[in-house]
Amino acid sequence: MRVLGIETSCDETGIAIYDSDQGLLAHVLYSQVDMHECYGGVVPELASRDHVRRVIPLVKTVLSDAGLKGRDIDGIAYTAGPGLIGALLVGVAVGRSLAYAWGIPAVAIHHMEAHLLAPMLEDNPPMFPFIALLVSGGHTQLVEVKQPGDYRMLGESMDDAAGEAFDKTAKLLGLGYPGGPALAKLAEQGNPARFRFPRPMTDRPGMDFSFSGLKTYALNTITTEDNDPQIKADIARAFIDAVVDTLVIKSLRAMEETGLRTLVVAGGVSANRQLRHRLGELSRQIGALVYFPRPEFCTDNGAMIAYAGFLRLQAGQQESLSFTARSRWPMEELQRVRYPGSGIASWKQDTSG
Ligand code: KG4
Ligand code: ZN
Repeated sequence: MRVLGIETSCDETGIAIYDSDQGLLAHVLYSQVDMHECYGGVVPELASRDHVRRVIPLVKTVLSDAGLKGRDIDGIAYTAGPGLIGALLVGVAVGRSLAYAWGIPAVAIHHMEAHLLAPMLEDNPPMFPFIALLVSGGHTQLVEVKQPGDYRMLGESMDDAAGEAFDKTAKLLGLGYPGGPALAKLAEQGNPARFRFPRPMTDRPGMDFSFSGLKTYALNTITTEDNDPQIKADIARAFIDAVVDTLVIKSLRAMEETGLRTLVVAGGVSANRQLRHRLGELSRQIGALVYFPRPEFCTDNGAMIAYAGFLRLQAGQQESLSFTARSRWPMEELQRVRYPGSGIASWKQDTSG
């Protein structure tokens, strides 16, 4: 089965083709970062209009890169939420229309489920069940994943998501948008002993997160200290150490509570080298198995949508002609897809609910 994946939930147009026998055949990504940079964040209306411009040319590119025609595609997967509603509607409308024109099924994909499944595209994929730590620009979530579609939310962000906290703190330090990667780079020159930021909500039980206070902490540190470059690097370092420690502490709690020893980390912030390094150490210390997508599939991309689409189409799921997009969409509402064995060809729909 060959699935065309379409991702337009935020500021990246990602298109890919996944083949159930051969794996990923082609993927392309167009980032709108340059367009939004001067506004200091994503402007939703500009994002939607740019997806309109890019999506069809990119579908043509990905088909040509894979040496395929439209008739070679067996199904279409598009991100239907959560995300910016106007941006989502572009991918949803194009995906649903192409499926109608080509006479093939289409399936709506949950963006965070696709992030969570992205490590399945790697050579050494994780085995179910596992804990997923999802750290993106819009969400921070700890999820018990029994099998695809069977999710129990263990904890999530009460305010800013981890990526959002990175971006806002980067902005305070004058690092532009989106500042997560730039902040991480600056932190590499930082002195870890100079400042210590709190590890929010780690002093009480539970697995929820709150990162908005760290940004205020950074702001207060900047205004009370000299604004020199080394101090900025030291603040960046203190911020990242606090975020990484907090994510590690809560992930450990999730593993303790569930007895699961496999951790999957996905979403834009999972590209962060400090986080990958700390979790790598943790896995050696406690014997846990930790999986990440390759860095380019940590952030938004079409490949993860095509893969999630393959799993759901293979299980017989598809949308009717009436389509919808959802800016909010709890992951626990998703339909379960049973994973009976190791072979991907044996995926079947679970009708037991
Ligand atoms: O998953 P993603 O591409 O989009 C959403 O679904 O939100 O995540 C984007 C977020 C941004 O906040 C970005 O600053 C952050 O991921 N990010 C990083 C790194 N790369 C991307 N944060 C820290 N370190 C990085 N290397
Ligand atoms: Zn994302």
